[in-house]
Amino acid sequence: MKNQTSVRHEKTLLIRLEFLNHSGTLFGGYMMQWADDMAYNAASLAFPSASFVTKLFGQFDFKAPVRGGDIIKIYSEVESCGTTSCKILVWAINARTQSEVFRTFAVMVNARDGKKVPLP
Ligand SMILES: CC(C)(COP(=O)(O)OP(=O)(O)OC[C@H]1O[C@@H](n2cnc3c(N)ncnc32)[C@H](O)[C@@H]1OP(=O)(O)O)[C@@H](O)C(=O)NCCC(=O)NCCS
Repeated sequence: MKNQTSVRHEKTLLIRLEFLNHSGTLFGGYMMQWADDMAYNAASLAFPSASFVTKLFGQFDFKAPVRGGDIIKIYSEVESCGTTSCKILVWAINARTQSEVFRTFAVMVNARDGKKVPLP
């Protein structure tokens, strides 16, 4: 089996009208939710018996607007792991234009009963 810590995860999304804000572009909160999901997925598939919570996200700098009908690809990948945490790279591109939408990272911590515990 391929080592899940070196796997690049990918999600392809059609941006429907329900995801748009009053200006007709993607509401950033949806993108942040999908980024959080992708960070969780990458960490959890690398350490299936761990129980991850999001400790920290890096900056979200949305570089290009996303519009209804765009197709977005979101990627995540484990960059490194410490004693209780993993750093996950998360980024997205607009698959229609190839422009990068954002690039950031998350720190996911293995936690039980609200306390950090070592990774398995
Ligand atoms: C996650 C939680 C259990 C961690 O407990 P903590 O005592 O605050 O943990 P620490 O500050 O020692 O950090 C834990 C790990 O995160 C890493 N970390 C913390 N802050 C970091 C930062 N700014 N940059 C990089 N790594 C960081 C630490 O290095 C450590 O990793 P390691 O053991 O691999 O070295 C606790 O903060 C918590 O429950 N937070 C709420 C999580 C949550 O509910 N998230 C959902 C969103 S509301």
